[in-house]
Amino acid sequence: MAIQRTFSIIKPDATARNLTGAVNKVIEEAGLRIIAQKRIQMTLGQAETFYAVHKERPFFGELVAFMTSGPVVVQVLEGEDAIAKYRDAMGATNPAEAADGTIRKLFAKSIGENSAHGSDAPETAEIEIAQFFSGNEIVG
Ligand code: CMP
Repeated sequence: MAIQRTFSIIKPDATARNLTGAVNKVIEEAGLRIIAQKRIQMTLGQAETFYAVHKERPFFGELVAFMTSGPVVVQVLEGEDAIAKYRDAMGATNPAEAADGTIRKLFAKSIGENSAHGSDAPETAEIEIAQFFSGNEIVG
């Protein structure tokens, strides 16, 4: 498998509980490198753009409100098969279904407040990374 990049968000429920380092530990122990990272307050516009694919879902308003409710940490992760590897490290979207040792099993509060986001495919990773990082902010 080739070296890939994926986009990650440490969500407001995790930053509020001072879990950035704890989440990063799981990421690094999974064999992924954090090659870009910044803590930001996401605007309504950024959240609506980021989650545009979920616009018609009943939870869209709740999702956008949550993602703008406090600081998030946006990241670029790099490694062998990084997209699948990070999805494995995060665990299932619903923490009740997440495997032991995963970020969501360890830290998530609910399906909405689920501590982490990771890209689901190479195409979305590219778009998501470009929404938050310029090339010179990523140092692999
Ligand atoms: P994420 O990987 O960031 O992508 C879409 C998000 O929508 C997902 O994680 C969940 O946090 C959120 N989500 C999915 N289903 C629900 C739901 N039923 N209620 C609230 N939020 C949801």
